[in-house]
Amino acid sequence: METPIIKIICLISLIVFSTFLHPSLSELCNPEDKKALLQIKQALNNPSILASWDPQTDCCDWLYVQCNDNHRINSIIIENGKLEGPIPPQVGNLPYLKVLEFITNPKLTGPIPPTIAKLKRLQLFRISKANITGPIPEFIAEMKSLKSVEISSARLTGQILSSLSGLSNLTELNLNRNLLTGPIPSSFGEFKGEYFFLDLSRNKLLGKIPASLGKRTFDVIDLSWNRLEGDASLLFGPKRSTWKVDLSMNSFEFDISNVEFAKTLEFLDINHNKIFGRLPEGLTQLSLVHFNVSYNRLTGEIPQGGDLQRFDASGYRGNDLCGPPLSRCDVVTAL
Ligand SMILES: *[C@@H]1O[C@H](CO)[C@@H](O)[C@H](O)[C@H]1NC(C)=O
Ligand SMILES: *[C@@H]1O[C@H](CO)[C@@H](O)[C@H](O)[C@H]1NC(C)=O
Ligand SMILES: *[C@@H]1O[C@H](CO)[C@@H](O)[C@H](O)[C@H]1NC(C)=O
Repeated sequence: METPIIKIICLISLIVFSTFLHPSLSELCNPEDKKALLQIKQALNNPSILASWDPQTDCCDWLYVQCNDNHRINSIIIENGKLEGPIPPQVGNLPYLKVLEFITNPKLTGPIPPTIAKLKRLQLFRISKANITGPIPEFIAEMKSLKSVEISSARLTGQILSSLSGLSNLTELNLNRNLLTGPIPSSFGEFKGEYFFLDLSRNKLLGKIPASLGKRTFDVIDLSWNRLEGDASLLFGPKRSTWKVDLSMNSFEFDISNVEFAKTLEFLDINHNKIFGRLPEGLTQLSLVHFNVSYNRLTGEIPQGGDLQRFDASGYRGNDLCGPPLSRCDVVTAL
């Protein structure tokens, strides 16, 4: 009875012992990937957050990375990593990468390295809260596998590339809080994705919304805190799946009286523009979580009903509006 147990114990200790002596025997991680990761760690000056990136262990077990079924690195996500210096060009040597994210590393500096263009399988590219400078690189428009691009709270300069609309699988583009200038490219009406999330807020964008943007639905569109002007009514329409529209802090100027809204619209902010006319009755049909039309040139009575009286007066101030939640219309007329 005892012999098989002893045998098993011997076998187990042998395996454990040999693994301990020769870590490479059990290693599944691809050696080229491991080499690239160790170069990345070194280029970043061996930050403490990457302590688990130990050459003696299997790189598929390291923190902040993931391997696919073939033991190739397919994801790097480093958040709050206190990373310093430029993005290491060696990230381009991880050919199976699908996800690359650097989030909240304020001392990550410099332009986006051109080696990123080698990542032919990259689907999700995100850099947020970093001191990234330079223009949006042209090579991004050639990375056809991209589904989501976010470079936000950074210091990108120059114009928004019109060629980005050629990314046929792209459904999310977030460039909020940069120093981007110039117009919204008219090609942006041609994004192919059925769903689309577009956030260009808090830049220095100028000019009108190109008419072509009216050709497609933006489920979420945030253009707030720019220097945009003219008509934005083309973003609305009843037969759409629009969920959020934020146009606040611009110089948009159009008559809102006859605008029809999608039933799916839950978030509408147009504060601080030059939008005029009466608030349409159709607004009472919406289920709103956020509504702010303050500081425009709106006139007349606030439609009564739906969610419109759920928001306090601050959402309506700075117009020529009357009725709840503002004061009664007859009082205003009497003045
Ligand atoms: C961002 O990087 C630039 C150099 O590219 C530097 O002058 C600046 O101080 C950095 N800003 C922050 C907030 O680290
Ligand atoms: C775009 O997405 C489809 C569906 O997920 C996929 O089959 C196709 O390979 C993708 N295109 C590229 C260039 O990655
Ligand atoms: C509407 O926007 C103004 C200006 O930003 C702000 O002061 C106010 O609190 C907002 N009100 C609501 C209800 O969102």
